[in-house]
Order: sequence, then C-alpha cells, then structure tokens
Amino acid sequence: MNTNGMLKEGTLEGKTIIVTGGGTGLGRSMGKYFLELGANLVITSRKLPVLEETAKALESETGGKVLPLACDVRNYEEIENVISTTEEKFGQIHGVLNNAAGNFISPTERLSHRAFNTVVDIVLRGTSNFTLAAGKNWIEKKQKGTFLNIVTTYSWTGSAYVVPSAAAKAGVLAMTRSLAVEWAKYGIRSNAIAPGPFPTEGAWSRLLPDNIANLFDPKNKIPVQRFGEHQELANLAAYLMSDFSAYVNGEVITIDGGEWLQGAGEFNQLDMVTKEMWDMLEMMRKG
Ligand code: HXC
Ligand code: NAP
Repeated sequence: MNTNGMLKEGTLEGKTIIVTGGGTGLGRSMGKYFLELGANLVITSRKLPVLEETAKALESETGGKVLPLACDVRNYEEIENVISTTEEKFGQIHGVLNNAAGNFISPTERLSHRAFNTVVDIVLRGTSNFTLAAGKNWIEKKQKGTFLNIVTTYSWTGSAYVVPSAAAKAGVLAMTRSLAVEWAKYGIRSNAIAPGPFPTEGAWSRLLPDNIANLFDPKNKIPVQRFGEHQELANLAAYLMSDFSAYVNGEVITIDGGEWLQGAGEFNQLDMVTKEMWDMLEMMRKG
C-alpha cells in the first residue's frame, strides 16, 4: 500500500472545485488533496461553523485558498448562491464533487415516510440540484466542467437496511451515466466513484454503532482485509477531476478492496475450505 499523493505538483493549478459535504470525512480528505495539487477549494454543507474550522485548518496545512459556504443541497436557491459567490471570489468553476449524503441503518418497515424522504432528498435530489445548477451555468457560459459523484457499490447491488440510500445512490449513478452522454457535447464530463468502507465519524457512527459493530467484523468481508485509506480515495478523485482523465466519461470506479465481488461470487465462500480438505478432495479425485 502507498498512501502518498499520486499526482504531480500543480496538477489542479488554476482550477476551482466545489466539494459538497466538504467540511468532514471523505469530502474533507479529497478537498485537502485538491488544494495540495493547486486548486482553489469551495466547501459546502449545512453547518457553517464546521466548514469554517475545516477551511482554516486546510488553509494552514496546505497554503491554499478555501471558501466555506453554508448550503443545504436540498435547497436549489442556496446552490445558486454558492455558484455566484464562488465565481465572485475565484472566477470560473471547473469541477463539482457531489459528496454530501445522509444515511442510517434501519429495517425499512420501521421508517416513517419522512425518514425515507430525508435520505433520498439529500442524496438524489441534492445531487440533481447541484448538477442542474452547475450544469446550466456551464452551458450558458460555454465553459467546460467536470462532475464527480460519490456513490457506493450498493448502487447496483442494492442493500438491505439502507434502502433509501441504495435507491438514491442508484439514481445518482443513472444520472451520472446519462449526463456523461447528453452533456459531453458541452465539454462537461460526469464520472462516479463507488467507495467501499473508509472509516469516517459520519458513516461509522450511523452505520456501525458499537452494539452492531460487535456482532461482526466488517473487515472479514473485504478480500484485502483492511479498510480504505483516505489518501487512496483522494488520489482517485484528483485523477478524475484532472485533465489526465479527459477521456474518462460516464465511468464508475470501484475502490473497495474487492468487497462487493466477495459477496457476489457463487463459490467465494470456499475460502473457508482448509488446505487439508483440498488435499483430501484431490486424493479422492485422483483415486
Ligand atoms: C430511523 C431516522 C433516523 C434513524 C433520523 N430519522 N435518523 N429514522 N433511524 N437512525 C428520521 C427522523 O425521525 C425523521 O423522521 C426524519 O428521519 C428526518 O430526521 P431529521 O433528524 O429531522 O433529519 P436531518 O436533520 O435532515 O438529518 C438527516 C439525517 C442525519 C440523514 C437523519 O443522519 C444527517 O444529518 N446525516 C448527514 C451525514 C451522514 O448521514 N453521513 C453518513 C454518510 S455515509 P420523523 O418521521 O420522525 O419526522 C454513507 C455511506 C454509504 O452514505 C456506504 C457505506 C459502505
Ligand atoms: P460524512 O463525514 O458524514 O459526510 C457527509 C457530509 O454531507 C457531511 O459533511 C454533511 O455536513 C454533508 N451533508 C449532509 N446532509 C447535507 C445537506 N442536506 N446539504 C449539504 N450537505 C449535507 O460521511 P463520509 O463517510 O465522509 O461520506 C461522504 C460520502 O462518501 C457520502 O456520499 C457517502 O455516501 C460516501 N461513502 C462513504 C463511505 C464510507 O465508508 N465512509 C462508503 C461509501 C460511500 P453537514 O452535516 O454540515 O450538512
């Protein structure tokens, strides 16, 4: 494993990138690497104090420029405000990382319709709101742009106990692939990343609370037997935001140590067959 920055210095020089949900977790880690590569960064979410603290820390760690802006992705007008304020401060916008999300575990029949809608509204409506506002702005101004959307591997497998999130992330993936075709003529690319488990306070506290985490070891589901490192994700995100990936469009790249395939392959559980048992089977076959 190599957790150094992968791209060369200045790769994102002159670019302005907006990261939704950029004050915490994976959004913060990806944003930090964009700054290290020379980008101007705008971080948005609902909690301005969190954003301001992150902006201060990231500016002192990287020497880059960070603009923290409060914006609930469910409110289209707030997104339009982010776009105009960003342009006033930095000029043209080059990339949008749709990373904000809401999620929690629950048997679906226990959810109120408001709970279900809350997650769908943040994940699918929030991403479509930002995509529409930024896309229209780029098209009107004849500017090129790059969307990068964070989904999950259950966007295509589905998953029990996180049904609103699975339904919404599937929608985000469909939108990513659809717009990759429709908006390519305007110079707008759309790609997605499907991370497996990367420890963050936001995800772990809601999806793996202590009493649930004690029931099983989530690492056992991962063929490489570890969680992802934030820099590994940041390297991939920076590549997909950069001009090095100009020919990558409509793609979803999985970064999960093989986790979802482990669950999918018909005979994958034969991992539990010991060497002695294989020896015995071989002897029986030869006999
Ligand atoms: C059941 C719940 C619930 C829970 C909230 N609700 N939490 N229902 N189980 N754990 C219900 C509430 O009772 C309410 O319904 C409705 O949902 C709205 O709740 P609010 O608290 O008013 O919503 P809001 O303040 O908008 O907060 C949104 C949130 C919260 C999603 C509920 O958790 C949040 O702010 N999350 C943001 C960060 C986050 O979730 N990060 C993790 C992303 S990880 P009623 O009927 O009572 O009004 C991720 C990883 C994926 O996506 C893949 C991993 C491998
Ligand atoms: P996180 O730290 O909780 O990040 C979620 C962010 O979204 C927070 O900063 C939150 O900030 C913001 N947000 C939530 N609701 C919002 C709203 N209505 N408007 C604007 N911003 C909102 O969790 P994370 O683990 O880093 O997750 C980041 C992304 O990775 C998500 O898309 C998640 O689905 C995806 N992902 C994570 C994992 C993992 O293992 N960690 C795996 C697969 C996919 P505020 O509360 O301030 O609004």
